[in-house]
Amino acid sequence: MMSFPTRRLRRLRTSEKMRELIQETTLTPRDLICPVFVQEDLKSRIKVESMSEIERLPLEDINDEIGTISDLNIPSIMLFGIPTKKDDAGTSAFDDKGIVQKAISQIRENFGDKIVIMADVCLCQFTSTGHCGIIKGDKVDNDSSLETLAKIAVSQAKAGVDTVSPSAMMDGQVSAIRKALDEEGFKDVSIMSHSAKHRSSFYSPFRDAAECAPKFGDRKTYQVPFTNAREAMMEVEMDINEGVDIVMIKPALAYLDLIAETRRRFNVPVAAYSVSGEYALVKGASKQGWINEKDITEEILYSIKRAGADMIVTYFAKSAAKFLQKA
Ligand code: PBG
Repeated sequence: MMSFPTRRLRRLRTSEKMRELIQETTLTPRDLICPVFVQEDLKSRIKVESMSEIERLPLEDINDEIGTISDLNIPSIMLFGIPTKKDDAGTSAFDDKGIVQKAISQIRENFGDKIVIMADVCLCQFTSTGHCGIIKGDKVDNDSSLETLAKIAVSQAKAGVDTVSPSAMMDGQVSAIRKALDEEGFKDVSIMSHSAKHRSSFYSPFRDAAECAPKFGDRKTYQVPFTNAREAMMEVEMDINEGVDIVMIKPALAYLDLIAETRRRFNVPVAAYSVSGEYALVKGASKQGWINEKDITEEILYSIKRAGADMIVTYFAKSAAKFLQKA
């Protein structure tokens, strides 16, 4: 007698409705955070060469953009600013009239609580060196950078930000920012830290978008080596001990193991940042006709959710929200 399988997983794949019933992971526009680039003194939108369909916007276009994002039921944006003036201290990053601060208050004024405003807290767009911290001698100095990061967070809080998102990878950045926010009375401003941000070649298209490539050296002395998972978990754990509200793993696609591990170990909300290089790979290959952009995007975003992310920062936010709305 031939032996047949008693358990047949195919029984639960027989129809579209059956597959819907069995589906374990969901993805909706509510899971997404849409990056927005705003540039000071810009007359009209400019395309980012390395990131097809991504643009830097002038302040005047921000309301339109946020309106579009909000109409797609995306609950949140991540603001990045490109200033006109860069200096060694990154002063335009914490200027109350800086480009990011202006964008935040304008969005707050026009949209109230209808969108969660998150803003990047870092120095690399604002320093003449392109480094994420203050240079002393030939090193990126941790503790003086902390003071500046705290000032940036407070200035964004004054402008009306909901969530500050430090991405500089300085040790103690969460506690420095939390302390400064609390002292200034911003107890309800939350922190989503780029907790385990890896030293990654996947960021190069972004450096074109935000003009923040380091002028010398690299980011190896502050970002996590991509070979180290335990070290990444220590970064996450330290941020939790310092009072972080949401932790983040970055990049996402090549780091799904770390998203899953963070989800297993900790109870805080977990964000994943699907970075510019991940976007560029999909865009590049789909332009050639080698892959189907929508199908691949869907599969990647579902996989990041399946790994355990609660929310995803992605340059596909708008296009994904469109196809998810139709689904
Ligand atoms: C700057 C910053 C970077 C990214 C987000 N914030 C670049 C870097 O660290 O070099 C990368 C995002 C992306 O590639 O999409 N601190």
